[in-house]
Amino acid sequence: MAIVILTGAGLSAESGLGTFRDKGGVWERFAIEDVATPEAFAKDPRKVHAFYNTRRKQCIEAEPNAAHFALATLQATLPTHIVTQNVDDLHERAGSEAIHMHGELRQALCASCEHRWPAPDAMRIQDHCPKCKTPSTRPDIVWFGEIPYHMDRIQKLMAEASLFVSIGTSGQVYPAAGFVADANMRGIRTVELNLEPSEGASLFDETRYGPATEIVPQWVSEMLTATQVVN
Ligand code: OAD
Repeated sequence: MAIVILTGAGLSAESGLGTFRDKGGVWERFAIEDVATPEAFAKDPRKVHAFYNTRRKQCIEAEPNAAHFALATLQATLPTHIVTQNVDDLHERAGSEAIHMHGELRQALCASCEHRWPAPDAMRIQDHCPKCKTPSTRPDIVWFGEIPYHMDRIQKLMAEASLFVSIGTSGQVYPAAGFVADANMRGIRTVELNLEPSEGASLFDETRYGPATEIVPQWVSEMLTATQVVN
């Protein structure tokens, strides 16, 4: 029986990557319908590429923080699946494997043949797909109105989990926001670690509030100690 951990933008906030819905967050500075929908990309691909090129640059310059490293230690020690809504690669750079349900900034996707490859630091509308040569390349990001990736795999992992932990997410975007209700229906323990109560805070068995770089290493350390005691 494994732990399933859902992570969101709050986990990378102390690495300097902005969250979406906090004061001064990304969606206060940009309209979702201008930069994060298939319609926006069809209407003004230059603007959408510019938005993600900036975010990719910020991601390249950022470093994983103590919370990412603590989760990597947990994953190396206990059966743990990390499902992330984050499009940065800070889990991987901390040494974890993560399932990216909203895509990845460092990947490019061909809208014609669905081939994927490592994105250049700056994507341009005239770039050609290396496989089919069509100039229809886009960031490999799940936009609003599109279906998140890996949902069958995530549902299977949730069905087999013994503990569900949600970290640094406001719980406002589905399907991820619904995972806690799924976990409750299955009767497994649920924990929220966040700066402040999320939308679904009352659905969790246990809640801890504070900066991720403090509360996540603390929680991981308690988990590892408890397992050693049992062993
Ligand atoms: P949000 O910006 O909606 O929520 C971030 C959460 O992190 C909030 O609940 C904050 O309280 C919390 N937080 C902020 N700083 C923190 C810190 N230092 N330590 C711990 N928690 C902190 O981000 P998400 O929930 O990840 O999707 O957003 C979900 C999806 O909405 C994103 O993946 C993105 C966005 O639109 C797409 O772009 C498709």
